[in-house]
Amino acid sequence: MCGIVAYIGDRQAYPLLMKGLQRLEYRGYDSAGVALLNSSLNLYKKKGKVADLQDFVKGKDLRGNIGIGHTRWATHGEPNDENAHPHYSSSKKHVIIHNGIIENYVTLKKELGKRGYEFQSDTDTEVLVHLIEDIQAKEEVDLVEAVRIALNGVIGAYAIVILSKDNPDQLIAAKRGSPLVIGVGNKEFFVASDATPIVEHTKNVVYLNDNEIAIINRNENLKIKTIENKFMTPYMEELELNLETLEKGGYDHFMLKEIYEQPQSIKDSMRGRLNLETGIVGLGGIVDYEKKLANAERIIMIACGTSWHAGLVGEYLFEELARIPVEVEYASEFRYRDPVINKNDVVIAISQSGETADTLAAIELAKSKGATILGICNVVGSSIARATDAGSYTHAGPEVGVASTKAFTAQITLLALMALSVAQSKGNLKKSYFQQLMNELESIPAKVEKALEADEQIKYIAGVYKDVQNMLYLGRGYNFPVALEGALKLKEISYIHAEGYPAAEMKHGPIALIDEEMPVIFIATSKGPYPKVVSNIQEVKARKGKIIAIVTEGDTTVKELADYTIEIPETMEPFVPLLSVVPLQLLSYHIAVMRGCNVDQPRNLAKSVTVE
Ligand code: G6P
Repeated sequence: MCGIVAYIGDRQAYPLLMKGLQRLEYRGYDSAGVALLNSSLNLYKKKGKVADLQDFVKGKDLRGNIGIGHTRWATHGEPNDENAHPHYSSSKKHVIIHNGIIENYVTLKKELGKRGYEFQSDTDTEVLVHLIEDIQAKEEVDLVEAVRIALNGVIGAYAIVILSKDNPDQLIAAKRGSPLVIGVGNKEFFVASDATPIVEHTKNVVYLNDNEIAIINRNENLKIKTIENKFMTPYMEELELNLETLEKGGYDHFMLKEIYEQPQSIKDSMRGRLNLETGIVGLGGIVDYEKKLANAERIIMIACGTSWHAGLVGEYLFEELARIPVEVEYASEFRYRDPVINKNDVVIAISQSGETADTLAAIELAKSKGATILGICNVVGSSIARATDAGSYTHAGPEVGVASTKAFTAQITLLALMALSVAQSKGNLKKSYFQQLMNELESIPAKVEKALEADEQIKYIAGVYKDVQNMLYLGRGYNFPVALEGALKLKEISYIHAEGYPAAEMKHGPIALIDEEMPVIFIATSKGPYPKVVSNIQEVKARKGKIIAIVTEGDTTVKELADYTIEIPETMEPFVPLLSVVPLQLLSYHIAVMRGCNVDQPRNLAKSVTVE
């Protein structure tokens, strides 16, 4: 949460920072700000989006070839101009931008208050910049040393960049818990929360590790030291990010583009891992842990949000195909329980961004108890990817829309591959059935393509239901997590209250909500518990509920009962979620657009939740 970007070099910083902030806006969009240094240090910040900041700075002095920028997702202090970053130190010599939470800010604020410091904002961040200035004055040290000492007294998570009028040729950056990457160009440096603002300028990056401080001096090599004052050699990596994938490419919204990218992203996630000729399923990233996984007494999936729903699908996949018991845990709950974990457990952490604070903390907890941790991440080099023992990347490409779509199907694809590879090494599936599963998985991208053809019809249905206040999503078996995901998608972007439920559980509560106003979405595909779902549909019909059903091509039974049906191609049951979620993604997209909602940046949400 919160996007950080900074620049030092020969070029004008302002346009680079603005473009960077637009790329990072998915991380938060409550307010935005920049600080630019020429002969004076100019700071501009505004409640609202980056576009509001752009309007605000028109006609102002925007010169400077060093500067910092921030887009905020509010934690401490409401979203307003004062709480927007950057924040000045008391003397107005230093400015800071911050992503994360300084947990002991109240204590620090009290101490600084006693020493006469006055605060212009309600943020935890402002406390840190005053603390740094206070240390610098008291200890008579340079700014880098003051930052180092201050960070030793800070509890919590941070990624920060500091710019000072006293040092016009220097940026200082540091991180713990929140991500920070440094782009190393030709006589210029970029600092950002992720590589998206950097990729068009340089492919050479250094990911800062926790408790490291980067000292970035103009025309000098990058220096890194730890907060214990130990110099480290920067480890340069090459970015694989493709610039085109960061643009909308003719679509009205990133979310729609990403929904339509799914045939490709699923294919990319399978490439080189599903080999029909040899009949082998293998994931290079976890090859050393294959035995461990196959012999696991239990698998624990930890994740948040949509990734947690993918984990639930993973539970069905691993239990059915690999015959290993699975538990799926919200990372935020898991980390604060005292979970029973032993060394024969394998934890699979699932995260699109690879930065979710709760998932990261849950990984650390499981690690401390001796479990093996595997990761399924989309962002290469992300904190979770680095914190796990091994893992496999979903090759979904950058996902910009805050509501996750293609990352979800890519995660399920990887979970299916993992379950198949374990099944293969355990030899617990008949060879012919295994081969059939492989063939079917291979055909999924073409079937997703086919499922997308219902878009116009879905748009029509969206028009019918766009003004409702509630919706219920029901599914069973593999489609139960899909019901949860469908409801989440609708809530996230259209602000309509929606609930996902196992279809049979409806009788134990939600059925009381059903009247002629209540639309109920059934995911009623032809395999598994289909006849039972049909009975559940009857139960809703008997109470005059409106029924929208996702069915398998050629279905006639549900068609007779439902008000609207949307067809998806037939597939084997374990892969159904990869198809049945697609119409639900499109339905929420169209409803949100028709309601005039900001689809890519829904209110109060952020794509990367780096605070707990
Ligand atoms: C946020 C995003 C969701 C995402 C969740 C988990 O809430 O808005 O789309 O599913 O975080 O994120 P992760 O990056 O760990 O998958």
